[in-house]
Amino acid sequence: MKKISNYSEDAITPLHILQLILDEWIGPKAPWSTLKGKKVLELASGTETSGYPPWFSRLYTVFDAEVIAIDVMHLGEEDRKMFTCVQADLIEIVMGDGLGSIPELKNKKFDLIHSSRFIGFNPPLEVVKELNRRGVTLDEFEMKLTDQAEKLLAPKGYIDVTDVWAES
Ligand SMILES: C[S@@+](CC[C@H](N)C(=O)[O-])C[C@H]1O[C@@H](n2cnc3c(N)ncnc32)[C@H](O)[C@@H]1O
Repeated sequence: MKKISNYSEDAITPLHILQLILDEWIGPKAPWSTLKGKKVLELASGTETSGYPPWFSRLYTVFDAEVIAIDVMHLGEEDRKMFTCVQADLIEIVMGDGLGSIPELKNKKFDLIHSSRFIGFNPPLEVVKELNRRGVTLDEFEMKLTDQAEKLLAPKGYIDVTDVWAES
């Protein structure tokens, strides 16, 4: 099979995961158009410079969701035109003042809060190393992040910050 780009293997996964999220959140075979107008928060979204483009944030935006993407690395110009990009260290924030202290999230509630390949079954090495350096276990960080994210969730909102679908 001809590879359409360097990212082709990665590009398949978010499509499947997005459908699983919608099925679970909205209902079986939910159309992607249900994303229209939804407020979405993507944690550790990925950036071109990290080698993981923000596929999910791009997908949510294309289907007319209002997206805020957060990553420790700087998001590229094209992504900044498409959705709100926040450069922030989520470990520092979650272990410190909490997600609710991020200015762009103040007084906001989200219909979907998502994070993939940040915590959960397959965290990146830099996250594991940084948590080790701070003497914080992955479980402890996961609990704090989940707890703080839940406080930002709108009624009937959906949260997956531990990558449950990628695991299945
Ligand atoms: C494996 S990539 C996953 C990207 C995207 N979520 C995906 O599934 O394709 C991990 C991402 O976490 C980001 N990251 C690592 N440490 C972070 C931190 N302390 N705060 C925020 N983002 C971080 C990296 O910059 C990278 O974009």
